[in-house]
Amino acid sequence: MSGTQIESILTEARTFPVPEEFARQANMDQAQYEALCRQAAENPAEFWGKLARDHLHWDKPFNQVLDDSQAPFYKWFSDGELNVSVNCLDRHLDSPTRNKAAIIWESEQGEVVTLTYAQLHREVSRFAATLQDLGIHLGDRVAIYMPMVPEAVIAMLACARIGAIHTVVFGGFSAEALKDRIEDTQARLLITADGGYRAGKVVPLKHNADQALSRSSHAVEHMIVFQRTGEEVNMQSGRDLWWHDLAAKAQVDCAPLAVNAEHPLLILYTSGSTGKPKGIVHSSGGYLLWSLLTTHWVFDLKPTDVYWCTADIGWITGHSYVVYGPLALGATVFMYEGAPTYPDAGRFWDMIEHHRVNVFYTAPTAIRALMKLGDEWPNRYDLSSLRLLGTVGEPINPEAWMWYYKVIGKERCPIADTWWQTETGGHMISPLPGVTPLKPGSCTRPLPGIFPDIVDEEGEIIQSTEAGGYLVMTRPWPGMLRTVWGDEARYIENYWAKFNNRFYVAGDSAHRDMDGYYWIMGRIDDVLNVSGHRLGTMEIESALVAHPAVAEAAVVGRPHEIKGEAICAFVVLRQSHAGEDMDALAQTLRAHVADAIGPIARPDEIRFTDNLPKTRSGKIMRRLLRAIARGEEITQDTSTLENEETVRQLER
Ligand code: PRX
Repeated sequence: MSGTQIESILTEARTFPVPEEFARQANMDQAQYEALCRQAAENPAEFWGKLARDHLHWDKPFNQVLDDSQAPFYKWFSDGELNVSVNCLDRHLDSPTRNKAAIIWESEQGEVVTLTYAQLHREVSRFAATLQDLGIHLGDRVAIYMPMVPEAVIAMLACARIGAIHTVVFGGFSAEALKDRIEDTQARLLITADGGYRAGKVVPLKHNADQALSRSSHAVEHMIVFQRTGEEVNMQSGRDLWWHDLAAKAQVDCAPLAVNAEHPLLILYTSGSTGKPKGIVHSSGGYLLWSLLTTHWVFDLKPTDVYWCTADIGWITGHSYVVYGPLALGATVFMYEGAPTYPDAGRFWDMIEHHRVNVFYTAPTAIRALMKLGDEWPNRYDLSSLRLLGTVGEPINPEAWMWYYKVIGKERCPIADTWWQTETGGHMISPLPGVTPLKPGSCTRPLPGIFPDIVDEEGEIIQSTEAGGYLVMTRPWPGMLRTVWGDEARYIENYWAKFNNRFYVAGDSAHRDMDGYYWIMGRIDDVLNVSGHRLGTMEIESALVAHPAVAEAAVVGRPHEIKGEAICAFVVLRQSHAGEDMDALAQTLRAHVADAIGPIARPDEIRFTDNLPKTRSGKIMRRLLRAIARGEEITQDTSTLENEETVRQLER
């Protein structure tokens, strides 16, 4: 975006007022909202301190709310101690919540398992005791590579119970991606399953895990394998252990360990514009507080609600809004293992009807895909239990918003379009369903305690309601990332350096309209958003050039009707492969990337070329490639290119 101003192209003008009936029962009303915003602005320490005291159980109360002495390495509640699993489980056991469903899980084949809070507590304690028996201690890293089964949640909370730091790796990621994360975290233990189900097929998790470990320069001491699919797997004696064997032997009780509020709860990898994915570190106290508060405010959860967030636990959305936020609130979480359209396009709607889901949170890509399959699918089901809808992960186009609003929400349910990131820990800019009138395509206004702004290249605040700029946060918040695992310099460089540590730089561009509503315009760095998943173009390029046929590669995004963005790769072949069958080679390279990163990174299109367009200083002209991928007319001056004729070739 450097040097250029982005003009907003959205002209959406519809507004949907807060339904009165909803406002009357909402967890936050207009008066509370205004009071909270005022307090947050005037006295942040009092604001955050009170919320943390009121909503979390502290083993050792904190005195200091914010320590900014080493900013931008902020610390929150840092002389306090707590245990995250106690806050999610134990503290509900003395109330009627004890015997209510914490998790209702449905498998792709339709099995249903319900775990009450008391049962979940027991399973977590038992598994935490197992981890202790294996010698896992405070601060040790544990990698979790699991399907969407309750045991994945049990594994996460068991780590939290003993102060181990979990790093969940999405089950759709490849062995290579798992290897990278194990090496970077130096995990002592890997927890996986024999396999998981997806669209009627088995994902061979244990096999991938074996491959990851065989390539890894760092050896885990043990691998715990949960038996899910029952297929044959290789168990390496001494290293690999069955979950059920350990559970049968383990004692049931494991006393929770109180940890410092700043103790890392989790590391989660996400893509940036440079290098390998970075390990985002979240704290125990601040992260838990923010995921809890945002779940309470934005999803308006009530004790009687059945709540369903469709995200996999391998993403931050799964961490904050399947596990930590809702369980800390004592909510009933519905969880599904499988594909959204299996065995047919009515699957989601069928489960909403069957389990009487009240609050439903999913991604625009899923909405667009389901919309395309036709209204007859949702119309076949009784969706009257729904009272609130949410979306996350990418901008939602007004057309998809309207479909969600009308066909799924029957014009009764507010939609929370939640803008946030792996790094922010929880929602940042989002409607509050009892407070905020909605505009399709806008994530509306910041939550109380969150202070975004839009700045230009010099860091000056943009007052115009038309021009876009860098979306920044001008104040810290408890749910913010603490650092990049093992790389403090990268933390500064990625999020703070651009404006001399004055703001947190989100990496998105946005503009703010005259009502103070934010409209996210997209990433400003070389990060793609494919089906709501972040992928660095560099990661895909590195995967491509690692193939022996490839000399050079450049990856750009282009708009895609369902996925938001499609991946388009420009590839220069090595001389030795020049005469090969191009279609076959394109297929091979697509499969190669899927293998290196995961199926979500598989390029949609591969275009072979003799050269990539470069400036005289050797920089690949990505803007030009983007225009070519989109089939746009080239208006840029290409005379400064080192190899101008390349453009002609690519345009063909
Ligand atoms: O570009 C924004 C987009 O997703 C990015 C964050 O991706 P990730 O860390 O993977 O987290 C996804 C789940 C929180 C953001 O920088 N994004 C996320 N939510 C929205 C969004 N873009 C527009 N509107 C949203 N509601």
